Amino acid sequence: MSANKDSDGGWKTFLWNSEKKEFLGRTGGSWFKIFLFYVIFYGCLAGIFIGTIQAMMLTLSNYKPTYQDRVAPPGLSHTPRSDKSEIVFSMNDDSTYAKYLESMKKLLALYETSLQTDDRNFEDCGASPQTYVERGPLESNQGKRKACRFDRTWLGDCSGLDDPNFGFKDGKPCLLVKLNRIVNFRPKAPSGNSSLPDALQGKVQPNLIPIFCKNKREEDAGKIGEIKYFGFNGGFPLQYYPYYGKLLHPQYLQPLVAIQFTNLTMAQELRIECKAFGANINYSEKDRYQGRFDVKITVNS
Ligand SMILES: *[C@@H]1O[C@H](CO)[C@@H](O)[C@H](O)[C@H]1NC(C)=O
Ligand SMILES: *[C@@H]1O[C@H](CO)[C@@H](O)[C@H](O)[C@H]1NC(C)=O
Ligand SMILES: *[C@@H]1O[C@H](CO)[C@@H](O)[C@H](O)[C@H]1NC(C)=O
Repeated sequence: MSANKDSDGGWKTFLWNSEKKEFLGRTGGSWFKIFLFYVIFYGCLAGIFIGTIQAMMLTLSNYKPTYQDRVAPPGLSHTPRSDKSEIVFSMNDDSTYAKYLESMKKLLALYETSLQTDDRNFEDCGASPQTYVERGPLESNQGKRKACRFDRTWLGDCSGLDDPNFGFKDGKPCLLVKLNRIVNFRPKAPSGNSSLPDALQGKVQPNLIPIFCKNKREEDAGKIGEIKYFGFNGGFPLQYYPYYGKLLHPQYLQPLVAIQFTNLTMAQELRIECKAFGANINYSEKDRYQGRFDVKITVNS
């Protein structure tokens, strides 16, 4: 009992020793010094931390990614797109292709004429391929840059205007294709005929990155049928480049190419590869979307 009392007393004395005016074994002055030490210590730590981040931020540009060397060659992407790059549908069952139409409509909604009326943000850049439209250096005080208008009607039968089914109902599906955005990238037109497929030989135009699709597998030869290309003679015109980035070019519209497969062999999985051709557009074994893509299409009745 007495031992208990003793230790109890020891506890209380330790907590508050009224003789020496110590709290937990230290006087108020001692506690204050410890408190001050930690305030200064953590203050300095926070200062170093913030200072480092600030110094790092100074080296970054608002307008241009610091490290973009690894993405230099642009990707080619298509809409509709599905997980396994498979497009399978039945002409006579619109529920099988509703999701494809949905994604195309969503993309084209960004290209509505009514969104491109403001002359402060948009300008006409011509309906035939022209050279780059330079809008000043990235790092300058010129502020926001204008974007070239893109007219949906250029996509013809794939514009969704005349045919809200984008050809799917007739077994002639459309794909919308764009080159992914890269800040300050200037795609170059093909430099000669040698790198181009036979079908494009002699059709090379200056200021245009042409797109061409064909069967990926030998056994699909002759089953793909005629392919129609809409929008700027089947390519991406250079006047839409360079892109100045989200901050300086908020209204930017990527040029689109629409591809329509008008005579696909029915009820067979056909593997089709589409490629963009340009002097600085490379393809990679590892990246299925770099400068090209392939897609499997099956049209059932
Ligand atoms: C490509 O070939 C066509 C005819 O086959 C020729 O007229 C054209 O000059 C060639 N273009 C280039 C860039 O070599
Ligand atoms: C469609 O392709 C078939 C062969 O697969 C061919 O016989 C037919 O003439 C083609 N139709 C058109 C309109 O090109
Ligand atoms: C394309 O590939 C060639 C050789 O493989 C390389 O020299 C060139 O730098 C590449 N171009 C781009 C834009 O990556």
